[in-house]
Amino acid sequence: MIICHCNAITDRDIRAAVDWMRAADPGTLITTGKVFRALGRRSQCGGCLPLFLDTMQQCDSFVIPMHERGETRRAATQGEE
Ligand code: FES
Repeated sequence: MIICHCNAITDRDIRAAVDWMRAADPGTLITTGKVFRALGRRSQCGGCLPLFLDTMQQCDSFVIPMHERGETRRAATQGEE
């Protein structure tokens, strides 16, 4: 199903990008912008963003695995010290 009509991005494209990003970096925060970039596209009208995000959140690999969460938090706070 087409999710982003401006860029002809399907739900399958989004799931593949989320799975790829999680496999490449298990602790990464996955955002809509990162998915657009992974697909070589940019958001244009933004009308798809609610459905785009819903599609991302339905992916099993969207959530950071529990064992990676401490590492992400430590990495985010290292710059503050
Ligand atoms: S429908 Fe996705 S940017 Fe316009």
